[in-house]
Parts: sequence; C-alpha cells; structure tokens
Amino acid sequence: MLFKRIRQVYLDVNATTPVAPDVRRRVAEVLDEHPGNPSSAYRLGREAAALIERARAEVAAAIHANPHEVVFNSGASEGNNHVLRVITARAPAPRRRLLTTAVEHPSVRAVAEELAGEGVVVTWLPVDRYGRVRPDDLAALLDDSVCLVSCMLANNELGTINPVRALAALAHQRGIPFHADCAQALGKIPVDVHELGVDYATFSAHKVFGPKGVGVLYARDGAPLHPFISGGQQEQGRRAGTESTHNIAGCGAAFALVPELLAKVPIVTARRTALLARLRAAMPEAIENSPAEGVVPNTLNLRFPGVQNAELLAFLDLHGVSVSAGSACSAQGGKPSHVLTAIGLTEAEAQESLRLSLSAETSDRDIEYVADLVGRFVRGEAPAVSLVSPGQIDAAFLDDDRNFLLDVRLGVERRLMKGLPNSHEIPFLDFSRWLERLPRDRNIVVVCSTGVDAAIVAYALKSRSFPHVGLLVGGLLAWRAAHRALYRARAGANVTVVS
Ligand SMILES: Cc1ncc(COP(=O)(O)O)c(C=O)c1O
Repeated sequence: MLFKRIRQVYLDVNATTPVAPDVRRRVAEVLDEHPGNPSSAYRLGREAAALIERARAEVAAAIHANPHEVVFNSGASEGNNHVLRVITARAPAPRRRLLTTAVEHPSVRAVAEELAGEGVVVTWLPVDRYGRVRPDDLAALLDDSVCLVSCMLANNELGTINPVRALAALAHQRGIPFHADCAQALGKIPVDVHELGVDYATFSAHKVFGPKGVGVLYARDGAPLHPFISGGQQEQGRRAGTESTHNIAGCGAAFALVPELLAKVPIVTARRTALLARLRAAMPEAIENSPAEGVVPNTLNLRFPGVQNAELLAFLDLHGVSVSAGSACSAQGGKPSHVLTAIGLTEAEAQESLRLSLSAETSDRDIEYVADLVGRFVRGEAPAVSLVSPGQIDAAFLDDDRNFLLDVRLGVERRLMKGLPNSHEIPFLDFSRWLERLPRDRNIVVVCSTGVDAAIVAYALKSRSFPHVGLLVGGLLAWRAAHRALYRARAGANVTVVS
C-alpha cells in the first residue's frame, strides 16, 4: 500500500514541458552523428551549420519571422537580459527611461531593478487586476526620455494576454523600440512577430516541448542588436559562443511542432473549463485570479480562501500532482508571488493561490483525481501528517523537547549539507527497521533534503499509529534558505544517530 506507485499528474506546464519524441530523436541524432563545430569550413562543420540553418527556418516559420531575424541563445532569460541591457546602454543620450510592468518574469524585472541602480530611470507600468496593461496608461507615459518599452505577451502565472500589438504601435509612434517576452505565449496562442509589430521578442524551447537551455531572440530586420555575449562571429555577430548544435536542432524541431500545439487549443480549453468546474465544485469559494477572457488556454490561477498554498502543494505533491504556487513559493523562503501582489492581492491572499497549467495530454481522469484531492484537503480529510513550513522551525522550535526532528537523508546528502541542530538521523534506505525505536510521545518532524523522501517516512509512521507526525515542506534546502543565519550558527550541532 505504502509503496503503491502513485499516479503522476503534471499540471505545471508553464514551468517546463517534457521533451517531445520528435525533438528527442533530432537531438540524439545530432549528438550521435554531427559532432562538428558549425564554424569549421570542412564537411563536418558545414553539416553542423546546415542543421542550425534548418532549425532557424523552423523557428522563423513558427513565429512568422524571416530566418535572419532569428538569433539562437540559451533561452528567454538570456534574451530578456540581452535586450534590456544592450538597448538601454546604447540608447542616445536623452533617452534614459525604461518602461516595463510589475508583472514581468524575474529575468526582466531583476534586470530592470539592476538598471535602476545603474542610472537608468525605470517606470513600472500599472496593470489591472488581471495583470493587463492598458494602452492608455502606456500612451500617457511615453515621451522622448523613453529608450525601450518591455511588456510580456502572456503572463506566466496568470496566463493573461497583453494587447502587445496596440502597445507596440503606440511606442513606435514616438520612435521607441518595443520588446515582448513571448516565452509563455508560444504554442498557446498564435504568435506572429511581424503582425505584433515588435522589435524584439524572446522565447524558450523548453516551454514548447523542446530541450532546456536553448531559446530564441527575434530581432526585427533593421532593429539594432549589439551582442550581449561578445567573442566569435556566431549568429552573425549577435551572440558569440560555439553553438549548442544539438539543442538548437531540438529547438527547431520543437518550434516545428507549434502548429500541432495550436491545433490542440480547443482540447486544452475544454480541459481548463472542466478543471475549473471540478475545483469550484470541490470549493465553491475558490476565486479565479486569472481572467475569464484574454487568457492563454492552459493556465488557471486560483485562490482557495483559508488554504495555505504551501500545504496544499505539499499534499498534492505527496499524491503525485505537480502544481506551482507562483514564482516564489515555500522552497524560496516563503515569499509570495510578486505578480499576485502586483494585481492587488494581499500577501496572505497570494499565499492562498495556486497556478495550474495544463496541456492537451491532461486527461479527464487527471482532472477528477486532482479535484478529488483538493476537495479532501479543503474538507480537512487529508491524512493527519502535519505539514511544517520552514518558517515554523525557528530556534525555539529546535530547542523544544517535545519536538523530535528526524533526519532521513542519504549518507551522500548528509556529507553535502549539515543537518538541523538537535536532529536524529536514521538511514532512509532501510528506514522501516528503525521506526519502532522512535518515541511515540513526541512530535516527530521528518526532514529530508527536499521534502519528498520525508513524506514517505511520515506516512510510514502514520501507518504504524504514531500519533504526532509532521514533515518539513521543501526539506532542509528550503529551511536553509529561510534561516540562513540560524543555519550558519547551528547546523550540524548535537546530531544523534538512532541505533
Ligand atoms: C514569461 C517567461 N519569461 C522568461 C522565462 C525564462 O525562461 P528560461 O528560464 O528558459 O530562460 C520564463 C520561464 O519561466 C517565463 O515564463
């Protein structure tokens, strides 16, 4: 029973996607059969270069660009850094202002914050309660001091689609270049960069069933693009570094599948509608953070009033369901999502919200399964393993004799990272041998590196009727992130090996 293989339901497509079989084949073929450096003049090199040009044509077709407008790089983070840094640095003197929104991906937001510290004036465009920019708000802020407008096409957490075509047209009326982060739009809505009228657009292959660590920067014909990474003349001098040929070929193969993804949009839309209906039935008070219209078809951000998202996430995780609590969740020290607070949610409300992002592969049974689990959780029927957040384990908790901190990490993990002070170690691999030696009259909190192995042990203890069992959500890694000073001062002290 305990080790019954649990169903796996992946509802975190916006985080990343698995590699499609066609993509895998192409990547493997390049790795196995095309070892040349694309810059080499001999046959092996020319073959590799031809593979890159094939991928470039596939990407161009998917986003309706010309092939020479496509620059391969390591992904949307690099593309976003590239555009923001290079365009602001090279703008003519009076233009020192960057306009962007408060709901951008961290790879735009963090760069904008850095630039603000380096003398660029950054103005954050207001967004409505769904994270959408209103063209009038942009129009009111455009003047001759602006060097770049950067606004995402689809938001990663809410799925909200921005009116990028109208926004770019407004920027162009004032001669200002426009960048759109399109990483979350591709494959979900048609993306035609020429029709959108943007100067720069950024993409990642792994959001569309391609490999990780490769992406695309679109630069409109004639739009200036100095390199961000300088060196060799790869990518027509726009991005130096020996090309990751297999990844680029995989990126091309993934973008070639975009029309198939778009053809499946009606299926995805129907699944999202069904998921929303079933979750509403499980908890009628649930509130949609995502808009009903003007949203990518696969993304549903919901608030479950009164429910801690970290706990629900851990409960779903224990049952094989992967969802996200926003870009910063318990694993990053308990900070709520900046997107949700930017659309007006309080921190507490943001911490009640979950993002579910699905694909055409999500089945009706998956939806039933997830909605049943959420229903059980909100009705208080979840098994009585308590979920302990990293924030709860402070110095007082560690020193409280009623708590028994049980560290179940593997030997190799213990060597990499010191454990909680006052903890007790048992080996994970044959943990069941040790369980009867544990105290039944104390609060056992099971700890592993990430929270996953701990769940198995916690449920084993429960099945042997231990009365008080908890598990550290996000594991020791999350605890260390939340308590850096405490970790430095006390980790590894007074650790006992249960024998
Ligand atoms: C909207 C958006 N932009 C940029 C990125 C960064 O992509 P990558 O991590 O592949 O560089 C992501 C990935 O989560 C994203 O969702």
